Amino acid sequence: MTWYAEYITPTDSFGEIAPIFKKNFTCGKKIVKATLYITAIGVYEARINGSRVGDFIMAPGWTVYNKRLQYQQYDITPYIKEDNTFTVTVGKGWYRSRLAGWLRPVDEGSSLPPAVIAQIEIAYSDGTRETVATDNTWTAARSPILFCDIYDGVVYDATSTEENTDLPVKVFPLDKGNLIPQQGEKVIEQERLKPFRYIVTPKGERVIDFGQNLTGYIEFTVNAKAGDRVSISHAEILDKDGNFYNENYRSAKAKIEYICRDGKQTFKPTLTFFGFQYIRLDEFPGEVNPDDFTAIAVYSDMKKTGTLASSNSMLNRLFSNIFWGQKGNFLDIPTDCPQRDERLGWTGDAQVFVRTASYNYDVEKFFTKWLADLAAEQGEDGHVPHVIPNVLPDDSDVGTVSVKRSSAAWGDAAVICPWQIYLTYGDKTILENQYDSMCRWIDYITNNTKDAYLWTGGKHYGDWLALDGDIKSRRGASNEDFIASVYYAYSTSLVAKAGKVLGRDVTEYEKLYKKIVMQIRKAFPTYKTQTEHVLALYFDIAEDKKAVADSLAQMIRDNDYHLSTGFVGTPYLLHALSDNGYSDIAYSLLLQDTFPSWLFSVKMGATTVWEHWDGIREDGSVWDSMMNSYNHYAYGAVADWVYGVAAGIQTVENAPGFEKIVFAPTPDDRLDWLYASIETRFGTASSRWYRFEGKLRYEIVTPSPATVHIDGKTYHVERGTYIF
Ligand code: BGC
Repeated sequence: MTWYAEYITPTDSFGEIAPIFKKNFTCGKKIVKATLYITAIGVYEARINGSRVGDFIMAPGWTVYNKRLQYQQYDITPYIKEDNTFTVTVGKGWYRSRLAGWLRPVDEGSSLPPAVIAQIEIAYSDGTRETVATDNTWTAARSPILFCDIYDGVVYDATSTEENTDLPVKVFPLDKGNLIPQQGEKVIEQERLKPFRYIVTPKGERVIDFGQNLTGYIEFTVNAKAGDRVSISHAEILDKDGNFYNENYRSAKAKIEYICRDGKQTFKPTLTFFGFQYIRLDEFPGEVNPDDFTAIAVYSDMKKTGTLASSNSMLNRLFSNIFWGQKGNFLDIPTDCPQRDERLGWTGDAQVFVRTASYNYDVEKFFTKWLADLAAEQGEDGHVPHVIPNVLPDDSDVGTVSVKRSSAAWGDAAVICPWQIYLTYGDKTILENQYDSMCRWIDYITNNTKDAYLWTGGKHYGDWLALDGDIKSRRGASNEDFIASVYYAYSTSLVAKAGKVLGRDVTEYEKLYKKIVMQIRKAFPTYKTQTEHVLALYFDIAEDKKAVADSLAQMIRDNDYHLSTGFVGTPYLLHALSDNGYSDIAYSLLLQDTFPSWLFSVKMGATTVWEHWDGIREDGSVWDSMMNSYNHYAYGAVADWVYGVAAGIQTVENAPGFEKIVFAPTPDDRLDWLYASIETRFGTASSRWYRFEGKLRYEIVTPSPATVHIDGKTYHVERGTYIF
């Protein structure tokens, strides 16, 4: 499209107050169509004649703004009258908020002013056209939003009358070359949850528990006098004594401050979001009626495609927690967590979770956009920033890892994510889009290692948060050069496969892969930690797989059937066991409910997946306030084992997107039944096993030709429903 519009901003700064931009225009003739194109330096909400345009929350979403700023297109034909008023409120959003809050002073913000660019194109029935575009004939006013940003929440003055003023705007000369049409999913309001309970804590705090950790905001109704105040804080948990606890939000204030007008009024924040299960009413006029509160979940509009269920209620709660973890962290980009002063697109987290994510929901569009941002952020030398979009200051060290370098298993998102999206959905466009970025990642490693055919001498996040290392370092005990080298091997093998799909010459990558594997075998002949064993098995490094699997199984038995793995080892742990004859031990870990385990958090009341195995300890105390999120999806990656091994629904590399399917269910005595389904591009694939008259029964529904492995037998079947 051609932009005639210019960015506009208030002539005199409004400080922290969010501006409303306004334009009145007349349409004297019959309209065929009216289309709005719009984006902002910040996040915006547009209205025409009082009606909200579209349902996109936090538009224009988050991208690498200086290179790729999405604009949205809305059909506004039904709203157009003869005399029209168009308004746009612009909040700070990701563009202008202080991000990576723990590295930046609380008062730091962007140097850019709030600005909007909008163009309304009207086609009349007489064949003529008209364009209404932002320019210096528009006006601006101070909105009732006195403050609003990503981490700190909102201050709103319902008594404000400033909205009715008309102050001048000026054109803000910004290049428009970075404007791109909407590429990702829009973000919308989803579930509405009523309070689960209202309590007064031992400290006397008035607290509402929504019964579910989620991302979004609340809506409340209050009967008040003008000037009364409502002040609300957010939290994910109550502490040991049952008091409100949100120290783990670190510098993120995450508050709603609302100044009431007279009478009954309903308010919900816009242009910001919170991660929470509990709210504390720090100030609230009158009696508290829980019915006056609703929590609204807000996340990307992805279609749910996966279902997991079993005969074990704790396991079912874990499945639910994994889905909620994805909802809470797929708000336009895959974030590590939605509550504290991070909420960033940490690459490692996305990498470990992408397979689960792609089965739970249709995330093809979501990842297409985020991976385009990853490629846009990649350094000249091919390095991949730790977070995408990259907001880490250039001179900072994050957990001792310099932001100018890349970490193994984090940067590998460049290769692993596109490959998985291709496998799940079968469209090679994602590989075409990303191939250059994938190759550049491998080349970066090749050019930045101390020893050829390994990745040594780098600085990494290690097996982040593993339990076997020095707790303060947070990086686990696994050898970081080993982790880096095996990921180098794995990603190289995937680049070779991707290149083949695209018909490229991959001889060099194939040779490189072989050399890396040989070199790793020489340099790292033995494995110490659980994670080292897991990686050696899962990435086909171990030569004597049986011996390594036996040793891993023994380590787990010796640890009384507990894991000690972190972000790197955990996603592949159960696979490494079940691929090598130890499904029973994989199930023991899955069903374990004492610390550390997945079900331990369930036992402790989790409604999402925790960042730490001991986010809350057995005695109710918390791990740490500095790094302790209760909505961190990474360990939820275990769901891909449930889909792929327990239920046994697997993709086939040479017929991706479930064009062909392998079913290889793996039952276990400790469960009476298990069910999984994935809505694929070809239809629904499902696998159910259950006990019937003393025997195991399997029900397989396949939308495509499939190979079924059951009880040591193999069947080749066409699309259909089968009982074994
Ligand atoms: C994030 C993680 C991330 C890590 C890097 C943390 O602060 O929350 O999920 O991957 O830093 O090690």
